[in-house]
Amino acid sequence: MNIIIGITGGIAAYKIPMLIRLFKQAGHEVQCVATDHALQFVTRLTIETLSGRRLYSGLFEESNERSTEHIALKEWGDELLIAPATANIIAKMANGIADDALSTLTLSFTGTTKPVYICPAMNTQMLEAPATRRNIEQLRKDGITIIESGCGELACGAVGNGRMAEPEEIYNNVIPCKIEPLKGKKYLITAGPTYERFDAVRFIGNYSSGKMGYAIAESIAEKGGDVVLISGPTHIESKHSRINTIRVESAREMYATAIEHFPNCDGAILTAAVADYRPKTQTDHKIKKKGDEGLTIELIQNPDILATLGSMKKGCQMLIGFALETDNELANAQKKLSKKNLDYIIMNSLNDRGAGFGVDTNKVTIIRRDGSVTEGSLKSKKEVAEDIVALLK
Ligand code: C5P
Repeated sequence: MNIIIGITGGIAAYKIPMLIRLFKQAGHEVQCVATDHALQFVTRLTIETLSGRRLYSGLFEESNERSTEHIALKEWGDELLIAPATANIIAKMANGIADDALSTLTLSFTGTTKPVYICPAMNTQMLEAPATRRNIEQLRKDGITIIESGCGELACGAVGNGRMAEPEEIYNNVIPCKIEPLKGKKYLITAGPTYERFDAVRFIGNYSSGKMGYAIAESIAEKGGDVVLISGPTHIESKHSRINTIRVESAREMYATAIEHFPNCDGAILTAAVADYRPKTQTDHKIKKKGDEGLTIELIQNPDILATLGSMKKGCQMLIGFALETDNELANAQKKLSKKNLDYIIMNSLNDRGAGFGVDTNKVTIIRRDGSVTEGSLKSKKEVAEDIVALLK
């Protein structure tokens, strides 16, 4: 494959030589294009030696083979990857500005149907600035793949989001045949309904099938990650060797198992339809029919597993919850995201046909902590699972 790497002026540019080596070792051709600022962080000599090709960095350089190098490169490249992508190049791309070699190439390349990837890398506040968020959202709408930055130590000394994805992770996104991006990671998933028993043979439950949670667990395992799957009662079985399924019945059992395992995990995705209330008393015998006066069962509140994990969350642990809303959907989901200290909330709406309990399809909206929202289309639960798992680091 012919890969064009556009390098812009961020400290993470020092990792690009390693990325070039990964591509070259796997037999791909790499052409680098750098901004002037990028060349303050990484040298022309290093890039040209590793890629085996002359670096393209100025529209009017004498060494350019032709005056329309950016058009020739657009033809040559199979994929364009901008790494690191500064707030500046992101803003230019979102607005179609073409004022140097890289932005000119980028504009012409995004006019083709070939894949374009960007790896944002910057200080947390720059990343969370409204303009950057708007621009990244625009690029997403334009069909550009964002290889999200991670949380960690930044060049300014602060710890936060904005650290460029590691070369291996970038490689795995751009060359899809090497597919174990979650190797070494472990995630906790809750799935299915809970049953809240009130006598020897009866319980209060719900219609959740567990399909969404199991699909997410499978997708993580396929990408090399380990999974602790805490499952309420369901007929589904997971056979993947990297999925450790722990079967529970009630919300309290699910809660105890989740808080035991969460500290050893890199994150959690809670899809279970947990009963908010349980019967205050449970009897070991079957409650007898009493006649005309009816039967009253007093309910008390169950613990909120998601909110508890939100309060336990440490460092870069990622927490994703689901919200099944019927009205004021977006506002309610956003409120839940911040109240429960989540990184993402996945919103289903009961108003959407084909979404929700039991069915094999789902339609979700992904809401991020920074307030940005991506509305998905109706897809199989497997495809939705892939979209959600792509959010994991
Ligand atoms: O607040 P609400 O119940 O709508 O939140 C839904 C999300 O919270 C889902 O991710 C669900 O798995 C989780 N949840 C939980 N424990 C509860 C109730 C909900 O983990 N007791």
